[in-house]
Amino acid sequence: MLIEGRHTRTIWLEDDGESVGILDQTKLPFHVIRVKLTSINAVAHAISSMQVRGAPLIGAAGAYGLALALAVDPSDASLSAAHELLARARPTAINLRWALDRVAARVRPLATKSRAQAAFAEAKAICDEDVAINEGIGRHGLKLIEAIAKTKKPGAPVNVLTHCNAGWLATVDRGTATSPIYAAHEQDLPIHVFVDETRPRNQGAYLTCFELGEEGVPHTLIVDNSGGHLMQHGLVDLVIVGTDRVTARGDVANKIGTYLKALAAKDNGVPFYVALPSPTIDFSVEDGVRDIPIEERSGEEVTHVAGIGEDGEVERVRIAPERTKAANPAFDVTPARLVTGLITERGVAQASREGLRALFPDRAA
Ligand code: MRU
Repeated sequence: MLIEGRHTRTIWLEDDGESVGILDQTKLPFHVIRVKLTSINAVAHAISSMQVRGAPLIGAAGAYGLALALAVDPSDASLSAAHELLARARPTAINLRWALDRVAARVRPLATKSRAQAAFAEAKAICDEDVAINEGIGRHGLKLIEAIAKTKKPGAPVNVLTHCNAGWLATVDRGTATSPIYAAHEQDLPIHVFVDETRPRNQGAYLTCFELGEEGVPHTLIVDNSGGHLMQHGLVDLVIVGTDRVTARGDVANKIGTYLKALAAKDNGVPFYVALPSPTIDFSVEDGVRDIPIEERSGEEVTHVAGIGEDGEVERVRIAPERTKAANPAFDVTPARLVTGLITERGVAQASREGLRALFPDRAA
């Protein structure tokens, strides 16, 4: 998608063929900074510090991280150690482990001298497939938006609420939750997005508002607690969020606060959709609350916020008393019963074992 009118992906192989370029998302929206990652440790740090974040993007980054490790040492021992190091960087999104397993399975049977090149090629394939998958999500999600548009007064926008950033910045391009929104916007279908700020890391305020703004999609930033009120007043036509892991029965892990939005949507009869690429489905787990590991991040993300001052300098300030202890679970689980549908690249599935198996019999097996 666009940054200052220029088409940009979130991750790419540099022209030297041996380093990986990313947008440093910890600096957005205040500064657009591209960073070159040249080692597995730099990739692991980029993932854990959230220079790259969002389930599909950390999968793509992990894949390139393995390739960088194999370029230095292509042995079996190096492959296993690199896989373990990268998988530990963030535990909730299954896409990371999925991408690492895929690259490892591709290179393990090869002679060591061919491994690095094959790993780079596999990482590139993962990136290209992610873009194609997200285009599919966009096509299927667009139909839902079009159906709602038909029920509205001519010219009245369809109002979508989204949480966190499941936009193109969270993927390689186009995004998951935002892909139907961009598809609608490209067809001149009036659309407007309520963007939850998404404390503590403010992915909504910093990233979703940034990318929607660059694309010219009308949007309004709201505090995380506004959603229920807006739904009670008929101001939200549908919710679309992304996800870090969907279980075999359709439970959905996503950014902390998603569950509360789903409860409010249920209470107000607002459709609650989750957009996901198929690598986000983890058929090995059933009960999301019990089985999905929830990342616990530093309390400093809660006690401090960053913003830009009048002088144009980015500042980080403390918003709680000095010795306040903060808890920071980064994700929560929305049970399948609260999910209206799962928007995937193959169509919209019911959030249930049957619904997922019907669309992905190959993966379920
Ligand atoms: O902590 P983050 O910013 O990596 O969390 C991102 C989300 O929760 C997204 O909604 C999810 O990864 C889906 S991205 C298409």
